[in-house]
Amino acid sequence: MAATILDGNKIAAEIRAEVAAGVKTMAAAGVRPGLAVVLVGHNPASEIYVRGKVKSSEEVGLHSEKHTPPESVSTDELLRLIADLNRRDEIDGILVQLPLPPQVDSKRVLLAVDPAKDVDGFHPMNVGFLSTQRPGLVPCTPAGIMEILKRSHILIAGQEAVVVGRSDIVGKPTAMLLINANATVTICHSKTRDLPGVCRRADILVAAIGRAGMITRDFVKPGATVIDVGMNQVTTRTEFERLFAGNAKREEAFRAKGSTLVGDVHPQVAMVAGAITPVPGGVGPLTIAMLMANAVRAARLRRGVPEFSKA
Ligand code: GUN
Repeated sequence: MAATILDGNKIAAEIRAEVAAGVKTMAAAGVRPGLAVVLVGHNPASEIYVRGKVKSSEEVGLHSEKHTPPESVSTDELLRLIADLNRRDEIDGILVQLPLPPQVDSKRVLLAVDPAKDVDGFHPMNVGFLSTQRPGLVPCTPAGIMEILKRSHILIAGQEAVVVGRSDIVGKPTAMLLINANATVTICHSKTRDLPGVCRRADILVAAIGRAGMITRDFVKPGATVIDVGMNQVTTRTEFERLFAGNAKREEAFRAKGSTLVGDVHPQVAMVAGAITPVPGGVGPLTIAMLMANAVRAARLRRGVPEFSKA
């Protein structure tokens, strides 16, 4: 039987509506949460992500501003910008879009963000809060994955979860959240022996590797929940055939655009999995929704407003 499709657009819309309601309540009390996004240079993917973040901020009613230092910016110049944003009381959240250019010391920049305004949850203090189960700000994509699982009523406690990918942004924090939710968690990476065999143990399989369609049917236990974090552009005919042979709709799109988007999970996995996130329209929309939620949460925590809703 084909897998249940976990609709990220629908879940993200629910969360955005909750956040917008939270923003309205805060506005009635005279507070407008503010989010500052820092986009260095002209990385095309980053520009698209940041456009989405700013648009969504406006839609939920946040004050939002975009800072765009040039590609040639130095670490010290960025540190001065961060210091200014840290100081400004009307800014509750600061997001520095990654990757930064090679001359910039990214770790120093992320360390300079006030942990109370760190809506990406990348500051070591927030990483420590997550690993010790203290209240803090949690990275957006991992937080979004947990929302998909919870709002889709997928059992986590006691389940075997396998996370493929050990990045600081997705793999590690996702594993930590799953541990905190009482799953039994394995993290896999490029040196893992018998990756398909380890993945087949998973009741919940999270793929965050950045390789088009790498997780094939033989990696997946029948009935498992599969969360696909990948966003890869397929541009060659050979790769297209490996992934989408016989799919007329994709064929049409590929012919028209010369490329198509695919996750880290092969489309045929939908024939084995019990539930699966699509690409696009799965995890992606949750990343921005959780950024909005984090901005409001940061504003409440900083300003001592109680957290009365889920937003
Ligand atoms: N680049 C890719 N993903 C992210 C993210 O979640 N946050 C930031 N700041 N940069 C990214």
